[in-house]
Amino acid sequence: MLGLIRTFERAGGSVDFRDRQHRCVVLDEVTDENWRAVADVAPADDQRRFVAALGARYLLLSLRGGVWNSLAIRAGDAVVGHVMWAYDEEGGAHWIGGMIVDAAEQGRGVGRAAMRVLIRRLAALPACREIRLSYHPDNAPAARLYAELGFVPTGEFEGDEAVAALAV
Ligand SMILES: CC(C)(COP(=O)(O)OP(=O)(O)OC[C@H]1O[C@@H](n2cnc3c(N)ncnc32)[C@H](O)[C@@H]1OP(=O)(O)O)[C@@H](O)C(=O)NCCC(=O)NCCS
Repeated sequence: MLGLIRTFERAGGSVDFRDRQHRCVVLDEVTDENWRAVADVAPADDQRRFVAALGARYLLLSLRGGVWNSLAIRAGDAVVGHVMWAYDEEGGAHWIGGMIVDAAEQGRGVGRAAMRVLIRRLAALPACREIRLSYHPDNAPAARLYAELGFVPTGEFEGDEAVAALAV
């Protein structure tokens, strides 16, 4: 499928990803206008064992570390989540991390649409051959979403998180 998407992209086509409310799901750069809304993105209380308590934590990681690149997840006009990506030169893989859909916006198809947009964007980069991510084995919603998108567990662990990979 990714091969087809790449061909389509290179031919100048675009793909429209929407959530279940038919809102267009877009990944925006973090700007002077939207950073506060991205910083305020928060998972449900019981999800804080899997991810940071606020998008702000990931924004700072992106700003300070010089490794990760934060993006705002927007559905229609509203910022509803955060996700970030990085390129690991040593391993030769692109990574996705810091995925949070605000608790009030979960279950509406935003997470799947945002992941598809980001996969499409990364897959269009000439150097992109593999996309990796990691998740806590107890995080069933995340595990299911990533498996649906084609990510396959590698058997490796990053800390207490299982690594999964998608060939592109
Ligand atoms: C994981 C997360 C990003 C999914 O985002 P979302 O917008 O709620 O997901 P969607 O509505 O697009 O659902 C997509 C798929 O995810 C899985 N999923 C989402 N919520 C689920 C739940 N409560 N239980 C089981 N599977 C779930 C399902 O496979 C679902 O597909 P389906 O609706 O066809 O069954 C969101 O739950 C979240 O932000 N969780 C807290 C932070 C987190 O754990 N991030 C991942 C770190 S690795």
